[in-house]
Amino acid sequence: MKVVVTGAGGFIGSHLCRYLKSHGHWVRAVDIKWNNYISGYADEYLTSDLRRVNSALQAVKGTERVYNLAANMGGIGYITSVKAEVMRDNVLINVNMLEAARKQKVERYFYSSSACIYPTYKQESPEVPPLREDDAYPADPDNEYGWEKLFTERLCLNYAEDFGLNVRIARFHNIYGPEGTYKGGREKAPAALCRKIAEASDLGKIVIWGDGKQTRSFCYVDDCIRGIETLMESDYGQPVNIGSDRLVTIDELADMIIKISGKNIVKKYDPTAPQGVRGRNADLSLVRKVLGWEPQVSMEEGLTRTYKWIEMQCLHDNSKKEE
Ligand SMILES: NC(=O)c1ccc[n+]([C@@H]2O[C@H](COP(=O)([O-])OP(=O)(O)OC[C@H]3O[C@@H](n4cnc5c(N)ncnc54)[C@H](O)[C@@H]3O)[C@@H](O)[C@H]2O)c1
Repeated sequence: MKVVVTGAGGFIGSHLCRYLKSHGHWVRAVDIKWNNYISGYADEYLTSDLRRVNSALQAVKGTERVYNLAANMGGIGYITSVKAEVMRDNVLINVNMLEAARKQKVERYFYSSSACIYPTYKQESPEVPPLREDDAYPADPDNEYGWEKLFTERLCLNYAEDFGLNVRIARFHNIYGPEGTYKGGREKAPAALCRKIAEASDLGKIVIWGDGKQTRSFCYVDDCIRGIETLMESDYGQPVNIGSDRLVTIDELADMIIKISGKNIVKKYDPTAPQGVRGRNADLSLVRKVLGWEPQVSMEEGLTRTYKWIEMQCLHDNSKKEE
């Protein structure tokens, strides 16, 4: 099958391209920029700004399936600092991509939504009940990125209803793994902590954003990719969670990574740093029922693979600085 993956130069998109190509698809990879880590995972590479109508049309041309993962996004520090830009860019990308898919009558359309669509009032304590898909309304996302994701979910559903576009919508919950952003300000908690710990000396210290008692669940990228494909192959057209239901505090996450590193590290806290909602977990009842999917890679295993990769990148970055 001929498929297009947008955001293919990014973290999940590049893993997805590699998976689709290894499963025999012809893959067009589209992104506005490319990272340094991976190559040779697509049949065609298109460097293109999907905020432009014609770029989206060109991206979709001749393909049967669209996986739209392109987004202006980053960790909580980033998405709370550039609100208008995040909303504007993502609305433009998503409207252009849906319209291009409709015009070119693609067979199926995947949209990567987020746990950020869930309302703040359901996430106010660390011991939160897991979020079910129908908790999304009445809507009150914690940040503008989440409001845009919710708007685009609705737009996808309206394209399905009004134009017969065959849509699949996943709500990703904190996906992590090797080959993701780990420095520069857009990285998320697991990658940021891996980098801080990799860069710290034995008996050194790291700073954790917030008081460390905020909770999240984390899903390894290979499980996420398997979830995307299972959803794409299914006939389920409503939003569904792709994540983990193992709730940990950010402190526990840091402790796990410190243990993997084999170092002795002192944890300090920065209560003034952005930390997002107080607690967030994924309810997997629906995804288990409609897709028979659940994560398989343990946090210990996933974090070990991630830490080792980020540690290598930090060593490489340091040796480049010394040259
Ligand atoms: N990683 C997560 O935990 C997570 C959680 C929820 C939702 N998501 C969603 O999954 C998708 C992929 O996330 P990711 O973690 O791989 O992010 P990422 O930032 O690594 O990848 C997104 C890619 O989109 C590209 N992009 C941005 N603007 C573009 C434009 N105008 N034209 C073309 N490409 C553009 C970026 O260059 C980047 O390579 C995004 O839609 C994101 O919102 C991710």
